[in-house]
Amino acid sequence: MCGIVGYVGKKQAAGILLDGLRKLEYRGYDSAGIAVRNGAENAQVVKTSGKLQALIEKTENGRNICGTCGIGHTRWATHGVPSVANAHPHVSGNCAGTGNGPVESSVVGVHNGIIENYAELKAKLMSKGYSFYSETDTEVLVKLVDYYYNKYRIGPIDAINRTMVRARGSYALALMFTDYPNQIYAARKDSPLIIGKGDGESFLASDVPAILKHTRRVYYIQNHQSARIEADSITFFDLNGDEISLPEATIEWDSQSAERGGYEHFMLKEIHEQGMAVRNTFASMVRNQAIHLEECGLTQNVLNGISHIDVVACGSAWHVGVTSQYVIESLTDIPVRVELASEFRYRNIPMNKGTFVIVISQSGETADTLAALRKAKESGVPVLAVVNVVGSSIAREADYVLYTMAGPEISVATTKAYSAQLMAMDLFAIQLSYSRGFITEEKYKYYIEEASRLPQKIEQILKNKEKLQWFSSRISSQTSMFFIGRGLDYSICLEGSLKMKEISYIHSEAYAAGELKHGTISLIEDGTVVVGVMTESSVLEKTFSNMIECKARGARLIALTSEEHPVSDDGEVDFQISVPASDEIFLPSLAVIPLQLLSYYTSVNRGLDVDKPRNLAKSVTVE
Ligand code: AGP
Repeated sequence: MCGIVGYVGKKQAAGILLDGLRKLEYRGYDSAGIAVRNGAENAQVVKTSGKLQALIEKTENGRNICGTCGIGHTRWATHGVPSVANAHPHVSGNCAGTGNGPVESSVVGVHNGIIENYAELKAKLMSKGYSFYSETDTEVLVKLVDYYYNKYRIGPIDAINRTMVRARGSYALALMFTDYPNQIYAARKDSPLIIGKGDGESFLASDVPAILKHTRRVYYIQNHQSARIEADSITFFDLNGDEISLPEATIEWDSQSAERGGYEHFMLKEIHEQGMAVRNTFASMVRNQAIHLEECGLTQNVLNGISHIDVVACGSAWHVGVTSQYVIESLTDIPVRVELASEFRYRNIPMNKGTFVIVISQSGETADTLAALRKAKESGVPVLAVVNVVGSSIAREADYVLYTMAGPEISVATTKAYSAQLMAMDLFAIQLSYSRGFITEEKYKYYIEEASRLPQKIEQILKNKEKLQWFSSRISSQTSMFFIGRGLDYSICLEGSLKMKEISYIHSEAYAAGELKHGTISLIEDGTVVVGVMTESSVLEKTFSNMIECKARGARLIALTSEEHPVSDDGEVDFQISVPASDEIFLPSLAVIPLQLLSYYTSVNRGLDVDKPRNLAKSVTVE
């Protein structure tokens, strides 16, 4: 997820662009750049890596770049590490990619999204004589527009439409064409893009906060639509290049809520972004109904060499490891250990030939997980990292990296990155199983098809969150809660309990349901809330009987089930929530959503700081 901005009008553009990027920095902050044109002169491009502040300093807050038309970008790396060369704007010319200074290019552009078929498009363009200075999919997109623009010489909208027909993936695109001064062209598919209209000036941005101080009059262009943006007019086009008209809308948000996309908290926004995060992660690993791990080096040879897996992580990432242990062991005969990184790094764990370590980390900077990775590598054991931040320490030091495509996650309590990790690990398990001959091609295709349906099932759950919001008000004064389940359900209990603890400060415990009677059931008393996660058909009845044992001791029961196997509700449970049916290895990806929402609403009811819970940091970079 990145942030893009654009301005054309009578004022100097650079300062306006930088101010807009400041408001979008939450969308990405590993590099940034702007391109500004002064009339018909070539665009001046300035790019820096690191936080936006570096660009602000380099341009003296925009004062050393003249021009009244420009575009800007703040990056969250998905293809290519954070660097000046990979920073946007990207150009159709062959400048060194540092891009600082006037560029001889017919097209300059910024992009938010992921181009899934960028590799094949890059090969096609190279066969046409194009060379590339960056590792990004965006440079490919800009050069593809340039290719069609110069081949057909019809104009920008024609070139953009041909590109939209050819490119697969998601994009919010802003372009400037040297032959068309004082104009910005925009196009969109799936990534957010709004266009604002002021008095004698026009704006473009990924999100409302970037333009709210200038105008509340906006247009939302839809998928496969494009626009020509000028100071005094904005013209919209469909994929055929025909002019269309779009309704003008008015932004009612205040600036604070605008930064969170209209959501009250980043956590709620990110809970709602999970469909897209899971979809993008799936799309980054699956093409033509097959899972492609070889691009990150996990060749058949590497997969064949695995006889034992250690999954090592912290917190919610460790919970993903617990879930993936059940999934991998259900699909292969490969034993899986799941270790807390803070323990793994100090234990004398035998790592024999054939051991394969997988570290999971959203930030890629967690000190214990990084230390565990280094320990494994010192033992000569290959390490795969499942990471959300491109170019992070863990990503750089691992032997193999699978990136989750969740985009920046601002709220301390992870949600969308966690769900993206589940998807990445599920696909890894399925590919490992198939490549080692444990499942048939038919089963392989079935699992991939089932996985592809998860995003819309997640979005379906999110459409019915009112029940959870209502019930959360009935548990907000709780002092203790239990989450119980078996197998994959137990792994979700771990995550549900941590979410509740870390943002509502209610003490809660996740327990293997069968373990309760070995001591902990003594803690159940009148009013204790017990959440039973019962989506796995083979064990749900056993867990249900554990729930009834708790009820007999005064507990209030919440049942979390799948629609395929609801519990018989003859009044024994106080509240039941069901998630859409799915193959059971994927049910954790669905069951976790109601638990995220339950903890979110409980925290809100308790008037707590949901996004910044006390004592916690987003990334634990110290021991
Ligand atoms: C999850 O909600 C917590 N914020 C925390 O447990 C987190 O998962 C853990 O610190 C690991 O962080 P990482 O994924 O960045 O390594």
